[in-house]
Formats: sequence, structure tokens, C-alpha cells
Amino acid sequence: MPHSWSLALLLFLLPPSASALGVGIWIGGGIGTQTPPSSSNSKLHNAYTALQAWKCAITDDPNGILATWVGSDVCSYKGVFCIQPIDMSTDLVVAGIDLNHASLQGTLVKELSLLSDLSIIHLNSNRFTGAVPDSFRELESLSELDLSNNQFSGPFPSATLLIPNLIYLDIRFNYFSGPIPEELFNKDLDAIFLNNNLFDGQIPQSLGNSPASVITLANNRFSGSIPVSFGYMGPGIKEVLLHNNQLTGCIPEGVGLLSEMEVLDLSHNSLSGHLPDTISCLSEIEVLNFAHNQLSGVLSEFVCSLRNLANLTVSYNFLSGFDQECTRLLFRNVGFDFSGNCIPGKNRQRPQPECSGIPGGLNCLRIPLIRCG
Ligand SMILES: *[C@@H]1O[C@H](CO)[C@@H](O)[C@H](O)[C@H]1NC(C)=O
Repeated sequence: MPHSWSLALLLFLLPPSASALGVGIWIGGGIGTQTPPSSSNSKLHNAYTALQAWKCAITDDPNGILATWVGSDVCSYKGVFCIQPIDMSTDLVVAGIDLNHASLQGTLVKELSLLSDLSIIHLNSNRFTGAVPDSFRELESLSELDLSNNQFSGPFPSATLLIPNLIYLDIRFNYFSGPIPEELFNKDLDAIFLNNNLFDGQIPQSLGNSPASVITLANNRFSGSIPVSFGYMGPGIKEVLLHNNQLTGCIPEGVGLLSEMEVLDLSHNSLSGHLPDTISCLSEIEVLNFAHNQLSGVLSEFVCSLRNLANLTVSYNFLSGFDQECTRLLFRNVGFDFSGNCIPGKNRQRPQPECSGIPGGLNCLRIPLIRCG
């Protein structure tokens, strides 16, 4: 099920009213002066430089948010959040930027890397274009970067992989294109959201190295097969969405090793062969979607008897049957869609001629299975 990150850490530190209003707060800071802060707080002075440079690169602001971005008190700027550092070494530091749904048009600027205490950047649902500046690698406190639902383009923003403490990377719903780097899955990220971009090429073999709990690569143009390393991912993986790409080949047998998996969507690809019986080891799985592929064979009792299953979709494949156990899904109130297959005697199946030659009738590696769990 979807995870809710959000302003996690930061908002615990803020009074609820401040976050609800989306207005920056200050703690014991002065107000009113229109000059940059004095050098006694060089951090806030750097923040002033960074935010004013960024303001100049924002060309449209239909909600008038940047009208509050005047004067030296950056902590009072709308969407800018300050905290007192734990070690009390300086007065205040800018720890978060939250401009979700602000409809801002413009670009990111390299000066933002001056915000060395920034732990959260949330810019979802704006109209930012261009690339992520290379200087972002210097944001050593940054843990959450949400650039989703903008118009960023160009190659995968590799600078993000050099941000030392990043754990949440959300760049979905943009126009990033080209291949994704191996290093993405070697990095200690907990959440990797890349869906709805224009990425292509193969999914790197390093996939199995990722310690993430959620990986979404759906609605791109990835091709080739699912890396065999898939099953050897960290034990914490809960959600993997690969649907609507151009993936081919077999579903790796190792999928069954992902014992915490709750949602797996491989639909709308060109995967072939049979479903691995090891799927029956996914004891926590709730949603399985294999629709619109070229899978063949018989859906086994092992898959259909999974305890936590809420929705099993295998429609539009070339399955030739399913075990008796699968009919019981209907009584268990589990969504079970097997339409558009080649199952004799069932309604809404493919016309017989389509079933006589199974496309890509591939022989996948098959490990004989003793029922799981
Ligand atoms: C099951 O999942 C499919 C594919 O995501 C969806 O279209 C369908 O509405 C779901 N069915 C139920 C009963 O939740």
C-alpha cells in the first residue's frame, strides 16, 4: 500500500499551525529589516543569497507566493521552514522548502546548494523545467527530494546520487529520458519513484542491491528483461511497480524471496513463460498484477492460496487454465480477473485461433517447489 512520507521529520519540529499555513516560522528572530542578515549569522546570509537567486529564476508565480520573499528574514518566506539546530551553534537554519502545488514556473539554480542545512525539498506539482543543478550534490543534509509532477527533462539527474544523506528520491511525472545509472540501486535510498518519465534502456543489474522499500519504474520505456538479481533485493522491499514498459523474458524465479512484498505490478509488458511457483512464497502480498503480458501455463494453487491476496489480475495473457483453488478466490472476496486468456470453458477468453500459437513460448527456468509457508 502507498507509503506516506511527507514532511516527516521536519514537521515534528514545527507547530501544526505553521505547517498548515505553509508559512515559514522564526524562533526569536528579528523581523522588519530589508537588508541581508549581517555576517553574525552567515548561514542565514547564504540562505538569503540562495533564495534570492532562485526567485530571479522563477518566471511565473500565479499564487503570489514569492511576494513574501523579500527582506533578510528568510524564515518568514512562504514555503521556507527554519529550525533551531540541535547543537544551538547558530540562531536558525533553513531546514525545509515546501512549495508543493504552487504552480511556479522556472528553473532550479546552482545557488540552492548554499542551503547546507536543508533536509527536505518538496516541489511537487509546479512547472519547473530544465535540469537538476550539479551543485545539488553539496546538499549534505538533504534527505527528501520531491520534484514530482513538473517538467524537468534531460538525462537522469545524477547529482542526486551524490547527495550523501538522501533517502527519498521522487522524480515521477517529468520528462527525464535515457537510461538510468547502475548507481541508483547501489545507493542507500528507501524510496525510488521514477514512474511516468521517458526513461529507456535496460533496468540495471544492480536492482538487487537496493535496500529500498518502494521502487516505481512504471510508465516508462524500459526494455530487456527483469534483472535476475530482482529476488535478491533487501528484505524490506514492499512495493515494486514496473507496469507499462517494454519488458520481455521470464519473471525471475527469485521473486519468491521478497518476503515482505505487498504490491507487485508487472502488467502491460511483454513478459512470457509461466508464472514462477515461487510467487507462493510472497506471504505478505496483497496486490498482484500480471495483466497484458504473454504469460502461459496454468495458474497454480500455490499462487491462488496466498493468504493476504486482495487482488489477482492475470487478464490478457495466454494462460491455459487455473487450479481449483483459484475459484475459491471469488468466495474469499478477492478481485480475480482472468479474462482474455485461453482457459477452456470460461467466459471472455481469447478466440481459439489466438490460442493455438503462444507468442514467445519461452522455457523459463523452473525450480520445483514444495509449498511455501
Ligand atoms: C484489481 O486491480 C486491477 C488492476 O490494477 C484494477 O483494475 C481492479 O479494479 C482491481 N479490482 C479490485 C476488486 O480491487
